[in-house]
Amino acid sequence: MVATDKGKYYITTPIYYPSSNLHVGHTYCTVMADAMARFKRLSGYDVMFLTGADEHGRKIQEIAEAEGVTPQQYVDKIVRGIKDLWATMEISYDDFIRTTEDRHKRRVREVFKRIYEKGDIYKGEYEGWYCKPCESFWTDVQLSDGKCPDCGRPVERESESAYFFRLSDYGDRLLTLFTEHPEFLEPETRRNEMIGFINQGLEDLCISRSSFDWGVKVPIDEDQVIYVWLDALANYITALGYPEVDGTPDEAELYRKYWPADVHLVGKEIVRFHAIIWPAMLMSMGEPLPKKVLGHGWLLLDGGKMSKSKGTVVDPVKLIERYGVDALKYFLLREYTFGQDGPFTNEALLNRINADLANDLGNLLSRTTGMCGKFQSGKIAKPASDAETADTPDAELKRVAVGAAGKVEAFMEEFYFSRALEEIWSLIGRSNKYIDETAPWVLAGDTSKRQRLNEILYNLAEVLRIVSILIRPFIHYSSTEIRKQLGLGDDEARWADATVFGKEDAYTVEKGVALFPRLDIGAELEALSRINPSDGERAD
Ligand code: MSP
Repeated sequence: MVATDKGKYYITTPIYYPSSNLHVGHTYCTVMADAMARFKRLSGYDVMFLTGADEHGRKIQEIAEAEGVTPQQYVDKIVRGIKDLWATMEISYDDFIRTTEDRHKRRVREVFKRIYEKGDIYKGEYEGWYCKPCESFWTDVQLSDGKCPDCGRPVERESESAYFFRLSDYGDRLLTLFTEHPEFLEPETRRNEMIGFINQGLEDLCISRSSFDWGVKVPIDEDQVIYVWLDALANYITALGYPEVDGTPDEAELYRKYWPADVHLVGKEIVRFHAIIWPAMLMSMGEPLPKKVLGHGWLLLDGGKMSKSKGTVVDPVKLIERYGVDALKYFLLREYTFGQDGPFTNEALLNRINADLANDLGNLLSRTTGMCGKFQSGKIAKPASDAETADTPDAELKRVAVGAAGKVEAFMEEFYFSRALEEIWSLIGRSNKYIDETAPWVLAGDTSKRQRLNEILYNLAEVLRIVSILIRPFIHYSSTEIRKQLGLGDDEARWADATVFGKEDAYTVEKGVALFPRLDIGAELEALSRINPSDGERAD
């Protein structure tokens, strides 16, 4: 049993559009959320990690029609692929919500009803600029050079009779939220954007459509379907059984346990929906607001956002097949600075794999297990005495090793995945240096130095045990493999044990597979340019 004494932690990803298969940009957000969920579980939190699929809307309906299948058949196929991808990547979600599920649809209607009964919904005529790929309506002032401000594509003038949410009534309350709880929306640049947006004056939001029918029916008017964003945002509570529609006593038990969400992790272009529309919906229903909305940046290809509809995407499955899940996860978490955009390039991926994973981590494991096997038949005992003085390599190694977890925790609190990993890699670097400084292979030739040799190998095994815990939230397979080679139980990894040096009384080490074989970068670049064109070429 994992102790869950730290309380609850509810983290969500956006629910993805199953308009076509996901690309590596989507996996970025899910990998970050997964790392955070795993980190929190390992540190003793009772975690709820939610992801899912956002399956309604005109665009999906049109794609399905073009393919000659029903929208449901279409989304079923794509969602199967999304779930397979998450299974391959060992994404540890606790629930996967689909907006076409009955449990969701019934509750979205209830959300609509509650906001309507509050007097916040009225019927009117909508006219605006509509961006079909983004499913967004824009006003004149919001357009950029007459095009969609999010994706830069052309917009169409649309008019229809529809229901409206009185979003304009919530501007002051939202501004108060951002001022009194700046932590609600980060990074700060996104907060300032939202404040600017509200200060321009919020307009009421059109929340129904009648020009297509692939959606959740408006409960008070069966000719209309609920706007896809209102439908989608509600997933964060419908998955927890709220609002109640079944009437069973435990229906909203998860809601009572996990709501409000601790963090909604979202891409920067959908911050607006999560930081303005979603809190206003919750305010109208009289429900607590999420504690934090966190906007991350984009992985760029050819200088622009990867885009399924433009065909400029990188397929994560191809990368995983070639380099493994941990290589991709590590790259995504280490290479990009949270909140900022960054280019995706094959060179950067391959260099990270070779330098950080094969050289630094892989070598530390293979050198240590190799020496344990060669010099001591894999048997390492805890040294009887601990006689080192403050400035020996042993003392420094131990200091760095036991200090790493605290630093990683501090960076994780700020969602600085990259800095957290850097911290772990400085311990790995220090340990490789320790091997060079202590040169165990020299001691191995001298029988009078057996005790010292054992001590060095024990220290290295302890460091690797600590590393296996520290990397566990990020690269789970590697953690398991290291523990296996050290003869440690996989389920016994506890975050708190990463701060203890000298925990194990003995090790039975067995050298196993190389974690990350070294790659021939030139050959791989060539192979990747055929598989996943990234630099300059389009992926069709
Ligand atoms: N369905 C909505 C979300 C509804 S949440 C209530 C949606 N779906 S999406 O599939 O278009 O995008 C989902 C997420 O993927 C967004 O947060 C978006 O920022 C992210 N990304 C899509 N392309 C990306 C990159 N190239 N890089 C990083 N993240 C990217 O929006």
